[in-house]
Amino acid sequence: MATAQSAIRVQADTAPRDGQAYNRKPKLEAASIVIFGATGDLAARKLLPALYSLHKNGFLTSDFAIIGVGRREMSDEQFREQMRLALAKFRPESTTDPEETTKFLARIYYHRADFTNVVQLRLLRDHLEALTASLGMPGNRLFYLATDPEYFEAIVEGLSEADLVAPHDAVHWTRVVIEKPYGHDLASAKALDYHVHQFMREDQVYRIDHYLGKETVQNILAFRFGNAIFEPLLNRQYVDHVQITGGEIVGMENGRGGFYDHAGALRDVVQNHLLQVLSLVAMEPPATMKACDISDAKLKVLRSLSPLRGKDVEKSVVRAQYTAGQIEGKPVLGYREEQGVAPGSSTEAYVALRMGIDTWRWAGVPFLVRTGKRMARHGTEIAIQFKQPPLSLFRTVECDGDQCDLTAARPNVLSFRIQPDEGIQMTFSTKRPGMTLDLQSVRMEFCYDRTFHFRLPEAYERLLLDALRGDSTLFMQSEELLAAWEFATPILEAWKRQGPQNLATYAAGSWGPAEADRLLEGCAATWRQP
Ligand code: BG6
Repeated sequence: MATAQSAIRVQADTAPRDGQAYNRKPKLEAASIVIFGATGDLAARKLLPALYSLHKNGFLTSDFAIIGVGRREMSDEQFREQMRLALAKFRPESTTDPEETTKFLARIYYHRADFTNVVQLRLLRDHLEALTASLGMPGNRLFYLATDPEYFEAIVEGLSEADLVAPHDAVHWTRVVIEKPYGHDLASAKALDYHVHQFMREDQVYRIDHYLGKETVQNILAFRFGNAIFEPLLNRQYVDHVQITGGEIVGMENGRGGFYDHAGALRDVVQNHLLQVLSLVAMEPPATMKACDISDAKLKVLRSLSPLRGKDVEKSVVRAQYTAGQIEGKPVLGYREEQGVAPGSSTEAYVALRMGIDTWRWAGVPFLVRTGKRMARHGTEIAIQFKQPPLSLFRTVECDGDQCDLTAARPNVLSFRIQPDEGIQMTFSTKRPGMTLDLQSVRMEFCYDRTFHFRLPEAYERLLLDALRGDSTLFMQSEELLAAWEFATPILEAWKRQGPQNLATYAAGSWGPAEADRLLEGCAATWRQP
């Protein structure tokens, strides 16, 4: 059968010079970046390395100060040393330019405080004021909440009580970045949001979803609305179904089991990252590219998701846990044996959903979304599969002895590879050279690394930069987040009622449970293996 796919590559017709695009610099005002939870994993793994890259690439003005706030007693020097080690691990290039790294580290400070104690936050305010005065910096402040979510409410309130939130008419600004998870269901997200709004204006709140900072996720909008030829096809008339996969090979390493077992795949990845990706794929063209217009367009999609409640959950959602298996040739434990996971846990480490969007454009088109830990491969992909041509003109049967092959046009698929091997790919049928009229599926593909010869900025770099320049386009607005919880919460409730019933299993290192295949009923496809 003619299934082998050849690749046709795409060239950028006006390829930028190395680094050109990435280095176009927005003008930033000098600011202090205050990280709560600075001794934690996120700060070391993502935040400080991202700030280092921004500094190294000339995005931060020389007038910046990073103040790590933690509960542990530590001097500035000890904290800098910790951060030097973190950079060596997560930005190894920092070791090849010790002078620049030392310059960066010299702008980092540490302050010990109990986040929940207003008196201590007032001391933090005094410390910040003294520090910025000595550095000749204005009072602009970006607070980053990288703590356990249980402290979010107390910190937001404490900042306000300690006069660390600039009023509307102040000459300097205050912004607060809040990490995920923003609530654990609709009621708690609403309560958190209500609390936050008591002390801050919506334009001061930046709810982060690092997927929105990924270059390839932003490219969904550029691709859809910057080209005239694809957009007219993205609707119920031409699209058979859409598959969104977020596969991970990691399990519960680095002590994540305890946190994850209280969250599960739906809360951890679907409610935020994958629903955000889905809303970008499915939304109508925004009125402008301003944050509020993009958010409105995404919100309409999230509010149009066909609700999955009660019996629908059994029919359209499959949840599972991995059992022992192999990842990259090495044996790994099953989910329930992982450290931090309760032995009889019914938390899902995998979930697949068949979703619908009740809009004029998408009614009747299945959106198949899945994610899981310990799957066969690490990768996030969106694949839009188009309908078959209305007549099968090229359907032939070729026989060699009693072996017969069916040759026919295969469906066109437009896929966005979010990570790794970032790019976009389109498959289509072509005539295989030869004396017969046989079709072969080929691919036309655009790969970032072959077209643009510079490193893609990491999500946290882009998002920190945007928060510093006051652009909230790539952050989640309150209503979007609540709409996503409104969709996810009835599923969580149905599972709670079911207990471990209907919890499927899959071997670690596989593509997930066989039970998920039924979600594809009526689609001309099987689950993809990106
Ligand atoms: C995080 C989840 O938000 O996203 C993790 O808490 C998950 O469980 C991670 O592994 C996936 O992010 P990325 O960028 O590695 O795809």
